[in-house]
Amino acid sequence: MNVVLGVGGGIAAYKAAELSRLLQERGITVQVVMTVSAQKFITPLTFAALTNRKVITDLFSDRGGDEVLSSAVEHIRVAQDNQLLVIAPATADLIAKMALGQADDFLSTLYLAFTGPVVIAPAMNTNMWNHVAVRNNVETLRARGHVIVEPGEGLLACGTTGPGRLAEPAMIAQEVSRELFGPKDLEGDVVLVTAGPTEEPIDPVRFIGNRSSGKMGYAIAEAALRRGARVILISGPTNIAAPVGLEFIRVGSAAEMHSAVMEKLGAANIVIKAAAVADYRVLNASTQKIKKTAARLTLELEPNPDILAEIGAMKGDRILIGFAAETENMVAEAKRKMLAKNCDMVVGNVVNQAGTGFGADENAVTLVLRTGEVVEVARASKREVAGWILDQVGRLRLVG
Ligand code: CTP
Repeated sequence: MNVVLGVGGGIAAYKAAELSRLLQERGITVQVVMTVSAQKFITPLTFAALTNRKVITDLFSDRGGDEVLSSAVEHIRVAQDNQLLVIAPATADLIAKMALGQADDFLSTLYLAFTGPVVIAPAMNTNMWNHVAVRNNVETLRARGHVIVEPGEGLLACGTTGPGRLAEPAMIAQEVSRELFGPKDLEGDVVLVTAGPTEEPIDPVRFIGNRSSGKMGYAIAEAALRRGARVILISGPTNIAAPVGLEFIRVGSAAEMHSAVMEKLGAANIVIKAAAVADYRVLNASTQKIKKTAARLTLELEPNPDILAEIGAMKGDRILIGFAAETENMVAEAKRKMLAKNCDMVVGNVVNQAGTGFGADENAVTLVLRTGEVVEVARASKREVAGWILDQVGRLRLVG
């Protein structure tokens, strides 16, 4: 396996030396590419000695004659010869260039020419990391399917404390390995994922919604893509950019989600219903804006179709996974829903704890399987939890 390690210009550049060593220990050949500013922090010689290879430092070498042509297309050759691009540390500037598609040095040009998986480990000052421009750029890269190895918290070189410190090289190496050697066990599968909340209109300007952010469902869709599946993501309204490489359908109400799911169900052999679907909709929603009066206002609600239960009733050979968002008796409720809706597994989620569940970046779930097994997944990133959920698909397949 060949990997390009792109080193950006930050204090943490020295940690990339350790990363190059850890990658090689895993049997990976490492080609280092340094930006001009990275060379102010650490010399190419260090990486050349560690990797036993020439380090690429510039788009145009000063070699003359015939070699000018070969150096001008070197980024294409490097893009073709390597299976993964890891950038550590990724500075705010590098992240912005990648988000924009600007190509003014070897690394940013290589990025555009590269078609394989990309792992990005940002490092910068806390205020820079929290800046809306950086947040937007990082989300753009994430939506492209790139893996973002989140920076850790701690004392930064600038003297402040907070998030922004480069993730540990061991953690970055682990993400690289996962991308390179992780299972492609969903090749040939078509996975239908629903995500996010639904919005039930009251009138043209108001709706009944819920606190689901869609992060868990999107993480599952992205993980399924990485594992080789064809993915259809049907999403209620969220602030997350549509991931690239999958079929994406945006819906508003539960009724819209219901018809989109029913239309696509025939194509899917694995269905994962992470969406928080409204159980009720407003009966006779007003076509005009409801005006304020001194009187009380009563909204009458009527039940929505239970999409999961409907799929369960016509399940066939599909693997069907539901969610149970609970504030109490989680495992018992998850079991009850699994049987009632004919699911193979229900992901039980406690939603009234700080730091996990609705809107959070992390989750702690309990997987209740049709086989009777109950798997506790301790608090972890939604990306990791998505991996756990998809791991169970293999087990469910084995029991038929
Ligand atoms: N679900 C669905 N259609 C609905 C309601 C729920 O498909 N109208 C699905 C959700 O996507 C989720 C599962 O059913 O996978 C459980 O949702 P949840 O709201 O926890 O359960 P409910 O069956 O609505 O039960 P309750 O509200 O009583 O907890």
